[in-house]
Amino acid sequence: MQENLKEIEKNALAELESVQDEGALDKWRVTHLGRSSAVMQVFAGLGSLSKEERPVAGQQANQVKQALEKALAEKTGEVKQAALQQSLAAERLDVTLPGRPCRRGRLHPATANLRRILGILAGMGFQVYTSRDVESDEYNFQLLNIPPHHPAREMQDTFYIDSHVEDGTYATVLRTHTSPGQIRAMREFSSANPQNPPPIRVALPGMVYRFEQITFRSEMQFYQVEGLAVGETITFGDLKGTLLEFARRMFGREARFRFRADHFPFTEPSAEMDVECYVCGGKGCPVCKKSGWLEILGCGMVHPAVLENGGYDPRRFSGFAFGMGTERQLMLRYKINDIRHFWGNDIRFLEQF
Ligand code: DAH
Repeated sequence: MQENLKEIEKNALAELESVQDEGALDKWRVTHLGRSSAVMQVFAGLGSLSKEERPVAGQQANQVKQALEKALAEKTGEVKQAALQQSLAAERLDVTLPGRPCRRGRLHPATANLRRILGILAGMGFQVYTSRDVESDEYNFQLLNIPPHHPAREMQDTFYIDSHVEDGTYATVLRTHTSPGQIRAMREFSSANPQNPPPIRVALPGMVYRFEQITFRSEMQFYQVEGLAVGETITFGDLKGTLLEFARRMFGREARFRFRADHFPFTEPSAEMDVECYVCGGKGCPVCKKSGWLEILGCGMVHPAVLENGGYDPRRFSGFAFGMGTERQLMLRYKINDIRHFWGNDIRFLEQF
């Protein structure tokens, strides 16, 4: 019996030597420690032994069983460790491999230009005032001295959001220009509001929308920057001086400019400002339509009715205003010949800035 048990243990341990993975380990356990294994057979046969032999044989069988269990536990640890090492080796990262190229983002040229304009205006004392994109007909037109049926409405074809009111008086529109922000700023800063006393100098940037045929020259949305100054002693001389200085910082000290009389309902008198054509240097070419000049902005002294609508007494206060389309300036600066590039989102165009 003793010999037999030694043999059983020796065979089992020898077999365990060659076990390499968890599958084989499980098989080994069933064969050598399972119900029908040799050691278990010894336990089953104890009953047929004599009273004297039984405890000795039982004890020896127990020792073998425990030895096998201990060997199994050790081997299990080894196999698991080996499996872990193997998977670590297989999944090792090569940190010296080159990474995936990561493209650098940048500002959209229109955004960068807008910031440049606002930076120049801020340097001249203009505070940025953000107004809304969705406006009422009242703010977009009427308070700016453009009554219903006024011909100036035709200058700016309008996106009406709700036009169920027949005469358009209370319709909602996408702003066709940043000028309605003038009224909002004036009302917020008016003398009636002790928190924000005049004088005011604000710059109003934002997208404007026009119901227009899209061509290389005109888009249905573009940025404008509006400027407004209101105070007790503001004159047309202030307007000219401010805009000339702005334009020189924007287009360079050597550029030449001129003012031309024009008409806008919300200013009186009104003017347009031109820069000398960059293409021909003023001689006349197709870009400037042979005039030698390119228009850059509209401006004027704030109309008394508009001052009044903003909460200022026109007998005491005066002001000047100006408005410019900003993509157009970029087109002049970088000689871009198609305004549709700006919102076409072609990365090849945008990456050039
Ligand atoms: N709002 C005008 C437009 O969109 C531009 C403009 C002209 C604004 C004269 C002004 C101004 O503030 O004084 O065409």
